[in-house]
Amino acid sequence: MPGPKKLFIKSYGCQMNVYDSERMAETLGAEGYVTVDTAEAADMVLLNTCHIREKAAEKVYSDLGRLRPLKQANPDLKIGVAGCVAQAEGAEILRRMPLVDLVVGPQSYHRLPAMMQAVGQGARPVDTDFPAEDKFDHLPDRPARLGGPTAFLTVQEGCDKFCAFCVVPYTRGAEVSRPAERLLAEARTLVEKGAREITLLGQNVNAWHGGEGGLGRLIRDLAQIDGLLRIRYTTSHPNDMDDDLIAAHGDCDKLMPYLHLPVQSGSDRILKAMARKHTAAQYLTLIARIRAARPDILLTSDFIVGFPGETDADFEATMALVEAVGYGTAFSFKYSARPGTPAAEKAPVPAEVADERLHRLQALLSRQQKAAQEAMVGREVGVLFEKPGRMAGQITGKSDHNHAVHVEGGQNLIGVLRRVRITRSDPNSLAGEITPAP
Ligand code: SAH
Ligand code: SF4
Ligand code: F3S
Repeated sequence: MPGPKKLFIKSYGCQMNVYDSERMAETLGAEGYVTVDTAEAADMVLLNTCHIREKAAEKVYSDLGRLRPLKQANPDLKIGVAGCVAQAEGAEILRRMPLVDLVVGPQSYHRLPAMMQAVGQGARPVDTDFPAEDKFDHLPDRPARLGGPTAFLTVQEGCDKFCAFCVVPYTRGAEVSRPAERLLAEARTLVEKGAREITLLGQNVNAWHGGEGGLGRLIRDLAQIDGLLRIRYTTSHPNDMDDDLIAAHGDCDKLMPYLHLPVQSGSDRILKAMARKHTAAQYLTLIARIRAARPDILLTSDFIVGFPGETDADFEATMALVEAVGYGTAFSFKYSARPGTPAAEKAPVPAEVADERLHRLQALLSRQQKAAQEAMVGREVGVLFEKPGRMAGQITGKSDHNHAVHVEGGQNLIGVLRRVRITRSDPNSLAGEITPAP
């Protein structure tokens, strides 16, 4: 008797893709697929791709090239391309890569079972619709078992902001919020199945408007769920941080003291050219208000260096903003011109100049990360334990401020939230000791 069909999914890019990959695995799970850890072991390989920077998109093509010998050895192997490259390039992928059997965009993957049937009949389907029906209505219920005590929940998709450099409004479409009742129901199911922490996801998560009030109200409603211990959300846009959401950081205990609030640049001229629609001073005022609500909040951000027209003075303004805020950590990228975006029409900054700026910014951000970690030493924080540590006898989890924390012992504490005294800061994590229960 043949065993179950085997599926390997690789996720590129953001956490929304991680969530979508889980939902795709569940959809194909209902068709009899079980997931495996390698392409070699699979009957079907699905690449859930990212189009944000040129490198990310090109990686997909090199990975597809690497699947060629597998497909030659096993002509029954099916290969699908999903996600944002699928949305952006559609049928072009089939032309460039004859080994690809199907292409499915981020808004139509609930149709995967039908597409697989078409593949079985020899077709090479492409579906990059933004369908009128809601894909979430057509996906199977969440699975009986989760991978660990933390879960993602997509509450909002798409983006209407059209920053001059960004492909997301094109690959993910217009902003759509999922209704509050559905989200509360999905969250309850996740908690019943073992989730203790939920991270709310959206391309502009704080633009959520799927019920009365905004994201602050949704967070307060989620906080009523017994057994749910922690709530986080990502990624937010500064212009959508409303008063109630800021207040929630002060009065909702389950909302963690951690916020990713991308600013991209500290220069007003560049912010304007990027169409970010706020100034550096407005961002700093916002940060001050958030810190007034929750003084120990750890802030992170994204930065782009070498945006077209960025001068030395513009870059120094970014360095000054970073100094002024003091981040817990941050991502920084060299600007990548993306097809179809307004900024791609403009003359680029020379690569050496951009490289040098990136290097300087990253050095400053690393110093801030180290300082933020060292400031935790001696403090007592909550840690939700997620898995055994890398070293024998260790267990690992995330602190309230989202630092990875390792402690000795406590193997039976996976899924448990305990107070931990931080004893040491290591390069990308903290070490601590569980404090005796009161
Ligand atoms: N919605 C989020 C960002 C999603 S993309 C927001 O508005 O903040 C994640 C990050 O990728 C962005 O914050 C930006 O720093 C970076 N990014 C996006 N497009 C880019 C490009 N063309 N070149 C380099 N970095 C880019
Ligand atoms: Fe891209 Fe800007 Fe939308 Fe973020 S807000 S996804 S950077 S267009
Ligand atoms: Fe990439 Fe699409 Fe996410 S472009 S960052 S996978 S929304």
